[in-house]
Amino acid sequence: MSQERSDTLVLFGATGDLAHKKIFPTLYAMVAKGTLTEPVIGVAFDAWDLKQLQARARDGIVKAVGKVDEKIFAKLASLLRYVSGDYRSVATFEKLKNALGTAQHPLHYLAVPPTMFETVIQGLEQSSAAQGARLMVEKPFGHDLQSARWLNRVLHLVFDEKSIFRIDHYLGKEAIQNLLYFRFANSFLEPIWNRNFVESVQITMAEDFGVEGRGRFYDEVGCIRDVIENHLLNILLLLAMEPPVGRSADDLIDEKVQVLRAIRTLTKDDVVRGQFKGYLSEPGVAPNSPVETFAAVRFFVDTWRWQDVPFFIRAGKSMPVHATEVVVRLKRPPLDVFDPIKPGDANYVRFRIDPQVAISIGAQRKAAGDDMIGEQVELTALDDSKGDMPPYERLIGDAMNGNGQLFTRQDASELAWRIVGPVLGDTTPPQLYEPGTWGPADAMAGFGPPNGWINPAK
Ligand code: BG6
Repeated sequence: MSQERSDTLVLFGATGDLAHKKIFPTLYAMVAKGTLTEPVIGVAFDAWDLKQLQARARDGIVKAVGKVDEKIFAKLASLLRYVSGDYRSVATFEKLKNALGTAQHPLHYLAVPPTMFETVIQGLEQSSAAQGARLMVEKPFGHDLQSARWLNRVLHLVFDEKSIFRIDHYLGKEAIQNLLYFRFANSFLEPIWNRNFVESVQITMAEDFGVEGRGRFYDEVGCIRDVIENHLLNILLLLAMEPPVGRSADDLIDEKVQVLRAIRTLTKDDVVRGQFKGYLSEPGVAPNSPVETFAAVRFFVDTWRWQDVPFFIRAGKSMPVHATEVVVRLKRPPLDVFDPIKPGDANYVRFRIDPQVAISIGAQRKAAGDDMIGEQVELTALDDSKGDMPPYERLIGDAMNGNGQLFTRQDASELAWRIVGPVLGDTTPPQLYEPGTWGPADAMAGFGPPNGWINPAK
């Protein structure tokens, strides 16, 4: 497919939750900035008319941004079309084909469960709406290696790899872009960014809320599938990868894939699983569900750069704070010239991903006074986030422009499942933890980076 920009956005699942909460507010923001001028065709089963879809879009936007600017909303409303029908019916795709009119390069966005992918893709092919088109698909991309492979086969029956955009919205975050930029736009990091200087890497994604009405979805997924296999593993790749040899999407993704290939497949000893007390009473959750709402996982990257450096990822619902952070802890100095530096007080680089974007370097300096006694300080570059582009805006824009850099390629989508495969679907009951704590304390005792976890501040 050519590099031409997509000339229509087709949104499958237009009446669904994701469209309501995320996609319409994103399209509204894009219209406001003038980055979306193409028609948007919503497709869904509900027998609505266009007015109902517009009202639903407005509601989602109001909930996301507060007050709607009527001029901007009118512009977005004028771009919207609606096709209702069953995805299994030929008639639905004929209606879609009509609505597409003279569009040559639509972007079909599947904001529907993966179980629907095959049906929709067949409909697109049979109606020839797939011709010259791109395809964007939401996570979760499969349930395990086998289902990811199957999904990839289904997608490839109709679309070539260059036309497929698998979303991991974390890759669209400003802070993640910054992590990549900071690593490769500065030369001072490179000499220390390896097993000779780095003691450990820890990535924490803490959420101070539960499953928020998504019990049914979450109970089929659990923490490892929900955020570790994708979002957090992607952060690990950016930290561990070699510099890309060029600027193309494949140059970057090739390096990430090299890391994925070098990550050891997990075993049960690499994981601690927890479940917050009260999870079992969430609507949609199975009684006695063994699904984890917290997991801490140890990874190893078997390369010259990273051999024996543990990479820990920890994520959970109902934690004390809502924050995502990376801490790359360096080894302590070989000799204490002044007072002993406690092992945990060694230098580190901290990337704060959420809620603010910040990069800090932890260092020791002399505390004021007569004695040569040290204190820990942080040198921080804080981003005030005003210029941030929200992830969905960046990703929809990139997919429309055919830029695949921030999307997951087929090989990466399968390799990630290979790594976590053996620890998925564990039916032994996870360790319970009190909501508002850092996971199951007993099970976590002794499991973590040398010299301990660093809990992100509020
Ligand atoms: C989603 C997960 O992919 O990411 C959610 O399904 C999680 O469980 C969310 O809460 C976190 O993303 P963000 O960008 O809101 O931190």
